[in-house]
Amino acid sequence: MKKNEKIICHCNGVSEQAVLKSIYQNGAFEMHDIQRLTLASTSCRRCFTQVEEILVSELDKLKVNGVQLKIDFMESKKR
Ligand code: FES
Repeated sequence: MKKNEKIICHCNGVSEQAVLKSIYQNGAFEMHDIQRLTLASTSCRRCFTQVEEILVSELDKLKVNGVQLKIDFMESKKR
């Protein structure tokens, strides 16, 4: 963990960056995946909502990007 990273889960010292890494590098698309990979929200669970909000927000971004990528692909097929 880097010095200036934002800690999301204080019980287990899990940073926001670690949660994002579990999503983008390890394909964690469910809370239990993030919990297994990072240990975030596996103790007192006070951070559960915050971790879940990050997950939902990032999944929304991926959906938007997925649609955009599909549109780009379809446009390139027309040319
Ligand atoms: S703050 Fe994350 S489990 Fe306690």
